[in-house]
Amino acid sequence: MTEPHPSSPSVPASPSDGAVTPPLPPAPRVRVHHLAQAKAEGRKLTMLTAYDAITARIFDAAGIDLLLVGDSIGDNALGHPNTIPVTLDEMIPPARAVARAARHALVVVDLPFGTYEDSAQHAFASAVRVLKETGAHAVKIEGGRRVAAQVALLTQSGIPVVGHLGFTPQSENVLGGKRVQGRGDEAATRLAADALALEEAGAVAVVLEMVPGPVAAHVTEVLRIPTIGIGAGVECDGQVLVWTDMAGMGDWSPRFAQRFGEVGKALHEAASAYLTAVRGGSFPGPEQSYRN
Ligand code: KIV
Repeated sequence: MTEPHPSSPSVPASPSDGAVTPPLPPAPRVRVHHLAQAKAEGRKLTMLTAYDAITARIFDAAGIDLLLVGDSIGDNALGHPNTIPVTLDEMIPPARAVARAARHALVVVDLPFGTYEDSAQHAFASAVRVLKETGAHAVKIEGGRRVAAQVALLTQSGIPVVGHLGFTPQSENVLGGKRVQGRGDEAATRLAADALALEEAGAVAVVLEMVPGPVAAHVTEVLRIPTIGIGAGVECDGQVLVWTDMAGMGDWSPRFAQRFGEVGKALHEAASAYLTAVRGGSFPGPEQSYRN
């Protein structure tokens, strides 16, 4: 018998009191078979990026299904201009932190640019490092038919793989920048063929990034595995956002990302209030000080 998906109504996935620490005992773990199960039951999957333990714990406690240690850490936390400079060595400590913090979510780690494209063996060595050194559950790689051999070897070796099609940031230089992909009949047909090749090779889900809604809807319909959209419309089986976009950390967000909070502004206000209190001598007060 298949165990129910942990966020199905009979199994509470998140604490009802809004606390940011996970419930004890831990919420049941989302596992790879739950992904196709969610699709079959018409339940939308939720995925957010996380790059450290504190945000991972908050998103996990909120009941997010999948945490992605994305190579978007490059431009969101490491100060790189994009994902391309990110190395496997840079991915390991944040992936370890997220995997340690997540009790409920399935933790997926991006294999960064240059660590899997040239051969299935290279992909295997990189993915084994990720699973052994971090405790994460799956890896994500970009590309369709060109990486099908990689997906097949990893899957056969016990490493779940999430695919990534449409705008693939690691190929930004070939794609001519951040541009919508899959427009027009020929491109849409190529995208669907890539998605089917990933499914055939054993991928457990496919991220579709910056793809026209109707094209993503068609891919979603023809696949048995779930599609997880980012700028790919509402018909995908789930959605993923970079957490800094979702929470409104920066001044700018991509057109496809809704700001569900203004956390950047709140942090700025907190830091300013702290500065004012320290300079004005009101912090620390007696409550924050120790007596002899
Ligand atoms: O690295 C990342 O954050 C991603 C998402 C955009 C899906 O790959």
